[in-house]
Amino acid sequence: MQLPQSVRIVDVGPRDGLQNEKQVVPTDTKVELIARLADAGVTTIEATSFVSPKWVPQMGDNAEVMARIVRRPGVAYPVLTPNLKGFEAALAAGAQEVAVFGAASESFSQKNINCSIAESLERFRPVTEAAQAAGVKVRGYVSCVAGCPYEGPIAPEKVAEVAETLISMGCYEISLGDTIGSGNPANITRMLEAVMKRVPVERLAGHYHDTYGMAAANIYASLQLGVAVFDASVGGLGGCPYAAGASGNAATEDVVWLLNGLGIETGIDLDRLVDTAVWISAALGREPASRVARAVLAKRAKAGCAS
Ligand code: HMG
Ligand code: MG
Repeated sequence: MQLPQSVRIVDVGPRDGLQNEKQVVPTDTKVELIARLADAGVTTIEATSFVSPKWVPQMGDNAEVMARIVRRPGVAYPVLTPNLKGFEAALAAGAQEVAVFGAASESFSQKNINCSIAESLERFRPVTEAAQAAGVKVRGYVSCVAGCPYEGPIAPEKVAEVAETLISMGCYEISLGDTIGSGNPANITRMLEAVMKRVPVERLAGHYHDTYGMAAANIYASLQLGVAVFDASVGGLGGCPYAAGASGNAATEDVVWLLNGLGIETGIDLDRLVDTAVWISAALGREPASRVARAVLAKRAKAGCAS
């Protein structure tokens, strides 16, 4: 199959990345990160989550983040909402797009959102209904699409079933989360083929954590099946607080490098993105984790020495 000509990247760093930091990141830093991502040309930036601050204190400033970001035309700032309470708070904070997040693993669903898969879907239904009434777009996540930290490999049919249910509730897109990065091109392809029997590929996104360094390979495998939306996290920030050992998402700069190499348009300026990865990593007291950021920095340093 021909690869897509363009890809939309959803930078989930401000949410998936920063939710996993040991210290709570200052609101100023979050707001600046979101602005820098928009400056680099990212058109969908997952800004925060409206979850319980007892469960995820790192996102406890959700309303403040939403109040302080300067919204650019053409840029979407979705937020996570696990239930109606979260949705109502997100709506009051001015969210125009939300995401419900379910799982294909019962154990992960319990650990992450304290209910079974079936119960979670019943909690999402009023969210999608309220969102529809308010003209708010809803994205759906399915976690553990390749493997679960508690149950091991997950059946592709289970992923397909949850994805189809979320679509039937009105989600415009399903983001397929390889939460612990246990995917590889073989099992991700099998999973996508099962899901695509029930949900059109135009409505699917890949959300691959890079725990074992397979995220780029998984994106390439997904592109070959026609997937054209990928979640990524600037600087490779992140993980999931309820999936021990899960590391960050595919680094956005690694994904843009891959897509640039394949001649696929993203609208993102790689240099500005690398600057953002360097900036947020420094703000968190470390070097950028991604290979591309490090390579670009090394090249810049060499060019600086030569001049
Ligand atoms: P619960 O304890 O079952 O909820 O938590 P509850 O309805 O029984 O309420 C308990 C308390 O929480 C009450 O407060 C509620 O008001 C409050 P209390 O009376 O004790 O003071 N509460 C809330 N507060 C703020 N916002 C809300 C909210 N809802 C209830 N929305 C709940 C259920 C879902 C709330 C909880 O389990 C939770 O917040 N979990 C956090 C999950 C999370 O954020 N996980 C990380 C994101 S998912 C992820 O990273 C995966 C992803 O990236 C894809 C992938 O990689 O696979 C998306
Ligand atoms: Mg994730």
